[in-house]
Amino acid sequence: MAAVEFRSVGKVFPGGVTALRDFTVTAEDGSFLVLVGPSGCGKSTSLRILAGLETPTSGSVWIGGRDVTDVSPQDRDIAMVFQNYALYPHMTVFDNMAFALRMRRIPGPELNRRVEEAAGILEITALLGRKPRELSGGQRQRVALGRAIVRKPSVFLFDEPLSNLDAKLRVQMRSELARIHHRLGSTMIYVTHDQAEAMTLGDRIVVLRDGLIQQLAAPLELYDRPVNSFVAGFIGSPAMNFLELAGGGAGRAGAVSSGQDLPEGAARIGIRPEDVVPLQAGPVSCVAEVVEILGNEKIVYMRTDTGEPIVMRCDPSVEASVGSVLRLGFRPGRCHFFGAGGERLVK
Ligand SMILES: Nc1ncnc2c1ncn2[C@@H]1O[C@H](COP(=O)(O)OP(=O)(O)OP(=O)(O)O)[C@@H](O)[C@H]1O
Ligand SMILES: [Mg+2]
Repeated sequence: MAAVEFRSVGKVFPGGVTALRDFTVTAEDGSFLVLVGPSGCGKSTSLRILAGLETPTSGSVWIGGRDVTDVSPQDRDIAMVFQNYALYPHMTVFDNMAFALRMRRIPGPELNRRVEEAAGILEITALLGRKPRELSGGQRQRVALGRAIVRKPSVFLFDEPLSNLDAKLRVQMRSELARIHHRLGSTMIYVTHDQAEAMTLGDRIVVLRDGLIQQLAAPLELYDRPVNSFVAGFIGSPAMNFLELAGGGAGRAGAVSSGQDLPEGAARIGIRPEDVVPLQAGPVSCVAEVVEILGNEKIVYMRTDTGEPIVMRCDPSVEASVGSVLRLGFRPGRCHFFGAGGERLVK
């Protein structure tokens, strides 16, 4: 087990692309740290630097209190699981999992024990004799995890390991990963562009944009107190609504109805879809454009009478169909305020 630290890591690729700027993050020993952000923001680069597959242009990387910036990948005591985990097609599940141990000349009894233990954790013991083509996507994914687990690394690195799976399997594997983390207690660093995966897996989450950390916080803190409108819009689905405060638009009317004073310099407000409520004499008037009925909830996509889009997440019993005119209010105290530069203004 080991803590992981990035200290002021910068990465400029030879072509001149700056992938990371002054990246400083610590993942405590045994914690689950998630890096999340849009495509190209530097997530994989940071993992590859930690794994030793890429050299930082500046700064240093520490694992277990040791500066490993110049240590070769195989001496870093980490295992990485990629999105494209190529299993060896001609080898059985057992041999796929044992491969790295054979390369390290781990003796037979120890090797058997480790593979069987990992297979037990992953619940694939019955599959050890099969070839990858005889497995489902989720089973293959577990074998790929097994290859990492048998190595007993102090740190696991995951780069979008679930993105090849269908939606249902992703959710299933997500909870299995959480279970495995709990059971192994290893430090895990996990990269994804999926904010739901980030929220459910991470003890702490780093939101990256253009190689710069926007916020580093626990999931609920990110959700409830995003530091800027980028984080506010990135975390949460459907995304937070943003309404301009200028003039007499819906934003101003809704914010006033929420009972909050407008902070000085506020340019726009943010309101989460679940904090938009239908109110008989609500201050905001809208027309429903799309209605999604999900069984346990209803998502209503609307447009205000000033032409701004706004989304409401509500109980399925709320009456709304395409073309309905609705009057809305905002839940008291739930408005987020942002300045002209997108920065959060304290509530
Ligand atoms: N070997 C390379 N040479 C030059 N530029 C690179 C190289 N690898 C990555 N980049 C650039 O660095 C930036 C960060 O890339 P990175 O792969 O870290 O993004 P990412 O956050 O993992 O994105 P995705 O979600 O698409 O996987 C991008 O602009 C990318 O084009
Ligand atoms: Mg990537």
